[in-house]
Amino acid sequence: MKIRSVFNIASAILSCALVASAQSPDPVGTIYHGPVPDNLHGSDYRYPWPVKLFNFYNQRQNLSMAFMDVPARKKCDKEKVAVLLHGGNFCGVTWSATARKLSAAGYRVILPDDIGFCKSSKPQGYSYNVNQQALNINSLLTALGIEQVTVVGHSMGGMIAARYGLMYPETVNQLFLVDPLGLEDWVAKGVPFLPIDASYESQVTQNFTTLKEYEAASYFHGAVWKSEYDTWVQMLANIYAGDHGSDYAYVMALVTDTLLSQPVLYQLPHLQTRTYLMVGENDITALGKAWSSADVAAELGHYSTLGPAAAALIPNCTFHMFPGLGHAPFLQDPKAFYELFFSWLD
Ligand SMILES: *[C@@H]1O[C@H](CO)[C@@H](O)[C@H](O)[C@H]1NC(C)=O
Ligand SMILES: *[C@@H]1O[C@H](CO)[C@@H](O)[C@H](O)[C@H]1NC(C)=O
Ligand SMILES: *[C@@H]1O[C@H](CO)[C@@H](O)[C@H](O)[C@H]1NC(C)=O
Repeated sequence: MKIRSVFNIASAILSCALVASAQSPDPVGTIYHGPVPDNLHGSDYRYPWPVKLFNFYNQRQNLSMAFMDVPARKKCDKEKVAVLLHGGNFCGVTWSATARKLSAAGYRVILPDDIGFCKSSKPQGYSYNVNQQALNINSLLTALGIEQVTVVGHSMGGMIAARYGLMYPETVNQLFLVDPLGLEDWVAKGVPFLPIDASYESQVTQNFTTLKEYEAASYFHGAVWKSEYDTWVQMLANIYAGDHGSDYAYVMALVTDTLLSQPVLYQLPHLQTRTYLMVGENDITALGKAWSSADVAAELGHYSTLGPAAAALIPNCTFHMFPGLGHAPFLQDPKAFYELFFSWLD
């Protein structure tokens, strides 16, 4: 009799837990600390810290988000945490040098690979809504027990970071946006709809040469290509050429479509978070330029004017424009980037 009632309680708890997880919009998920293969979800790039997994149930499927968790090398009274969000053609690991410096400055640093990217799951039937990506990051931090965070995002990661600030203002200590996407409404400016299948076809043929050409023209516009950028192109080219290459190409088609529909521009006035915005004067990155008319393309991606305009819309914003730099100032001129970044931090 007694045993039976214990069973009943146990099964009641279990069914409650199942109901809760099936209904929760923000699943708790579990952290996996065990070993992972070098080639994970189609990315074979070697990461400098152990790769951990956040396994969670979302949009009716099991997903796995890869991340690194870099401990603070200097102890502070209160734990300080930063999460660094990568751009669409990069991975969490691209922030490694920044993570090392933050760690030395007393920060624990979380480096996630977004769902769909790098060493994370690449679901083919999934809404890559930018808010969903922000929610996924928040689910990861919640599972890690992190309540207050400094959020840093570059390019697409900057767009996700801004959404993160809009969705979870009370958890964000400070928000750093580095050449974020979405400071303009590409579609309103005339970028036509590109069918997903056509977008996929243009993605699936990407290789080292085409990726490097794109980045040289768009990210490092007007500058000389440095050999240290090659590693990030190779990392990406290997994903396209890898065993999940076509899945990745399709994810990129879905992501591009979603990003185009969700420029963060219109929500910037609602951003309550303390925000630091920095852009490269020569950044000319814009979604849809490649399949727009010459007239439309000429209007897109002028960060030298988009940056100050966005800063004026954000209620609590400090702005800086790096003269002569492009889309990735932390790669192009680390010295200038870190000088500014650490002068603003805290
Ligand atoms: C998700 O994983 C759980 C636990 O392994 C499994 O029971 C369930 O069937 C999986 N769900 C889907 C949709 O794959
Ligand atoms: C890369 O792709 C381009 C365009 O599809 C193609 O012309 C080129 O031969 C490819 N290069 C390599 C090294 O595969
Ligand atoms: C901006 O945020 C900082 C830090 O939270 C705060 O001290 C300052 O008063 C805010 N300024 C404005 C104009 O809201």
